[in-house]
Amino acid sequence: MPRSKIAGIGMYVPEKIFTNNDLLKYMDTSDEWIQERTGIKERRYAHRTEETTATMGIEAAKIAIERAGITAQDVDFIVFATICPDYYFPGCGVLVQRELKMKEIAALDVRNQCSGFVYALSVADQFIRTGTYKNILVIGSEKHSFGLDFSTRGRNVSVIFGDGAGAVILQPTEEADRGILSTHLHSDGESAEILAMYNPGTHANHWGTKNYADFDDAEISDMFMSHAMIDNSQNYPFMDGPSVFKKAVVKFPEVILEALHANGYEPSDLNMLIPHQANLRIAQFVQQKLKLRDDQVYNNIQYYGNTTAASVPIALCEAWQNGKIKEGDLVCLAAFGSGFTWASALLKW
Ligand code: UT7
Repeated sequence: MPRSKIAGIGMYVPEKIFTNNDLLKYMDTSDEWIQERTGIKERRYAHRTEETTATMGIEAAKIAIERAGITAQDVDFIVFATICPDYYFPGCGVLVQRELKMKEIAALDVRNQCSGFVYALSVADQFIRTGTYKNILVIGSEKHSFGLDFSTRGRNVSVIFGDGAGAVILQPTEEADRGILSTHLHSDGESAEILAMYNPGTHANHWGTKNYADFDDAEISDMFMSHAMIDNSQNYPFMDGPSVFKKAVVKFPEVILEALHANGYEPSDLNMLIPHQANLRIAQFVQQKLKLRDDQVYNNIQYYGNTTAASVPIALCEAWQNGKIKEGDLVCLAAFGSGFTWASALLKW
C-alpha cells in the first residue's frame, strides 16, 4: 500500500496588515493585552469585496499545484477545510473546481474548525493509500475578518483571528522513508457550545445555549436568523477562552505523543512540530511539556493571528520556505479547537 507524500505546498495571505493598535479604533483593547495573552502582534485581513475564503484557497492551491509539477487538470479530488465558507451552501470545494477549470472531480468540504486541515489531510491520505486518487488538493482557508464582532463585546474573540490560506498536493509514494506515517483524529462534543457560532443554524435553542437568555422562546424557536439575534451579536462566534485553553494544553501534548508513539518515536526525535496557531502561550506550554527545543517548534501566530483551518498549512509552508524543514525530517502537525476536535499527523518530509 502506498503512502501519501506532500508533493507541493503553497500559502496565501492577504496584503492588508492589521496591527493590534489598528484594533483600538473599534474596541477597548491594547497591544500589551493582546501580546501578553496571545503573542499576536498583527494579522492579515482580506480585501472586503475582492477576496473570499475560496479565492484565497485558490491562490494557495495554484502555488501548491505548480510546486508539485502538475496542472489543475491533473487534480482528482479536492478536500477544502474552512469555517468561513463563501456560502452557507454549497461548499468552497466546488468553487475551486470551477475557478481552476478542473475536471468533474470529487470536491469535499470539511468542517472541523481548528483541526480542519489535519482532518482533511487524513481523509485525503486514506484515498491515496487505497489507490483511489493520485493528486489530491487539500486546502485550509479562512476569511474570518468578515464575521467578527469588532465591538468591545467581541474583543476576546476578534483580536485573535486572522485571514489566510494554505494548500498541499498529496501524491502516492512507494519510498520507504517518506510521507504521512499516520494520522490520529479525536472529538468530544461535551463542550460543543463553548466555542461556537450558533447562527444561522437549525438548533432553535434545542441545546439550551445559555447565550439565548436575552430572547423569549417564540423568538428563538421560530427563527433561523432574526433581527434580535443580530442586535444582540448572536451572529458572531462565541468563546469561553479560559475553558478552551485548559483543554487545549492537555489534548495537544496527548495527540502529539499518540502520533509519535504509534510510530516508535519520542519527542526528542522530532525535527519540527507545527502546532495549530491558536495562542502562542498554548504552543509554549506544549513545547515545555514535551521538552522540545525552540528549533523543534514553528510559530508564526505573531504575524497572522489564528487562521483556524489555514494555520497548520500556512505554518508548514512558511517553515519549509524558510529552510526549517528538510528532506527526511520527522514533522508532526497537531491541532485542537472547537467541537472539541483535535488531531495529529506524523510525516517524513
Ligand atoms: O483556535 C481555536 C481554539 N481557541 C483557543 O485555543 C483559545 C484559547 N483561549 C485563549 O487563548 C485565551 O483564553 C484568550 C486569549 C482568548 C483570553 O485570554 P485569557 O487570559 O483567558 O483572558 P480572559 O478571557 O480570562 O479575560 C481576562 C480579562 C477579562 O477582564 P476582567 O473580567 O478580568 O476584568 C476580559 O474582559 O481580559 C479581558 N479581555 C480583554 N481585555 C483587553 C478579554 N479580551 C480582551 C481584549 N483586550 N481583547
